[in-house]
Amino acid sequence: CGIIGFTGELAVKNVLLEGLQALEYRGYDSAGIAFFDKDGIKTIKTTGKVMDLKNMVDQASVSEGTCGIGHTRWATHGGVTNTNSHPHTYGKVTLIHNGIIENYHELETELAATGRYPVSQTDTEIVSMLLDSLYQGDAYEAIKKAVVRLEGAYAFCILFADDPDVIYCIRNGSPLVACHSPEGSVIASDMVALIKYSKDYFVLPEEHIAKLTKNGIVVTNFNEEVVTPDMLHVNWDVTAAQKGGYPHFMLKEIHEQPESIRATILPRIRKGVPDFTADNIPGSIFDGVNRIIITACGTAMHAGLVGRIMIEQLLRIPVTVEIASEFRYQNPIMDKNTLVITISQSGETADTLAALRLAKEKHATTLSVVNVKGSSIARESDYVLYTHAGPEIAVASTKAYTAQLACLYMIAFQVALYRGTITVEQGAQYIKELQAVIPAIEETLTYADTMNDICKSLVNTEDLFFIGRGLDYALSCEGSIKLKEISYIHSEAYAAGELKHGTLSLITEGVPVVALVTQENVSAKMISNIREVRARGAMVIMITNGIADADDTIYDYNIKLPKTSDSFAPFTAAIILQMLAYYTSVHRGHNVDQPRNLAKSVTVE
Ligand code: G6P
Repeated sequence: CGIIGFTGELAVKNVLLEGLQALEYRGYDSAGIAFFDKDGIKTIKTTGKVMDLKNMVDQASVSEGTCGIGHTRWATHGGVTNTNSHPHTYGKVTLIHNGIIENYHELETELAATGRYPVSQTDTEIVSMLLDSLYQGDAYEAIKKAVVRLEGAYAFCILFADDPDVIYCIRNGSPLVACHSPEGSVIASDMVALIKYSKDYFVLPEEHIAKLTKNGIVVTNFNEEVVTPDMLHVNWDVTAAQKGGYPHFMLKEIHEQPESIRATILPRIRKGVPDFTADNIPGSIFDGVNRIIITACGTAMHAGLVGRIMIEQLLRIPVTVEIASEFRYQNPIMDKNTLVITISQSGETADTLAALRLAKEKHATTLSVVNVKGSSIARESDYVLYTHAGPEIAVASTKAYTAQLACLYMIAFQVALYRGTITVEQGAQYIKELQAVIPAIEETLTYADTMNDICKSLVNTEDLFFIGRGLDYALSCEGSIKLKEISYIHSEAYAAGELKHGTLSLITEGVPVVALVTQENVSAKMISNIREVRARGAMVIMITNGIADADDTIYDYNIKLPKTSDSFAPFTAAIILQMLAYYTSVHRGHNVDQPRNLAKSVTVE
């Protein structure tokens, strides 16, 4: 969910609506705001998009306030209804919430005994009831007493009816960042809503309460001692979080990849080889490592699948890739000789964060690859290698994915050099090839029109298969999720050699198969697999790296990537797969940036 709170000199309705528009990618089932107007707290909320809310606000007769809170919802407890939308009010308390309160039912039963009943089906409303029951004029006391009772993850912004123009905030797990500027004090679930006011901000520490007034933000711990949080700085500006002339954020972000990879790798190259000194990652953390576990969710986990192959090849250390939501419940084997790499664009994904905490408990060394500065995963890891992809707004991840690949390749080279499994000359050669990926991606982006045309033939597709071997299989997994999340076409990624053990039965006349053939060592085998699907009538879209010497009877389309060495083909092939998903979604008329049921940052388990 997206959260924004503001108190200051500006008309708060506009601040909140603008903030919610920037945050809409975090959830877009419903939206709402609450603010102090001359008659007290006024709440306006609705199912639908922020634009629907804006229309309601424009029509409502309310006076101008300067303090309020706003929310975009990604439903967890309770259906998508007006009543379940945030903010929720009970008695003197009005609040918005991101996260899940796991023991809400127990609290609800207790509160019923005191004659308090909710009107919605949400866990959030129960917290407004709880706070109201504990509030006797001292917000700090009420909040402290309430959070002791809460189990689960949360970020709350709270208004008390008799404490005008003040916002109280507290969080556990779910993120909140804040800044003060001459216009006032702002708090939000992420930086894109703050950037208009300041590039300098802080992350609200857990078990601390922030009190926002127009004059400033006071952060206190539970002993009511004032704490000065560490300030962070972002080096992008408001334009980075806007579409900049592109019809969709996703297309803009696809086109930003040469720059995001450049920004991610160049500062980490010294004398032609990787150097993580500026990231405070000493080579010594890799001493004694005999096993690497990569854990993440979604697209970030798919980046791990590619990274695994590269790291294992260069280091000859076993590497496994684990889905964070599975890994954390399996009592995994880890010790001080295990290196756990967590990958996350947002740095807030609840399961990935929990996997990281488990790794630390088991004394593994933890290194995270994260895009959002100061996020929970970044702060809690022993070491962080930031992807410098800038803000990623489209729900479907693109530039964060390739920046994650770039980081994983850099880690592979750096560790291999440090441990002597490759020579300095080989390290320098790898770095050269990684840098060469940037112009190759630029060239791949010129295939946009071709991809647009090819995707027209997929408009009525119901099922589609991606096949590949080795790095191409790892990449197929990403191609498949990208397509299904935004085009709503059912798709699956298959290791091409595995087709004949089941999936081949699904290949019938006209079923599209995207076949990746960028790895020379298995290209002959891949061509045979393509012939197998072709013989069953598949429509074949082949993606090659200049190595597949295939006659034109086996494909409908052959997309020839700019030549890179095979190990680096995932970068250019990823761009093609992203464009495949993007243009297919556009032709099918879907909301590319905000696919149904999904959200960008998933802070629930
Ligand atoms: C959500 C997003 C995906 C993302 C995944 C992991 O499902 O929609 O695009 O890959 O979360 O997110 P993270 O922020 O940890 O990379």
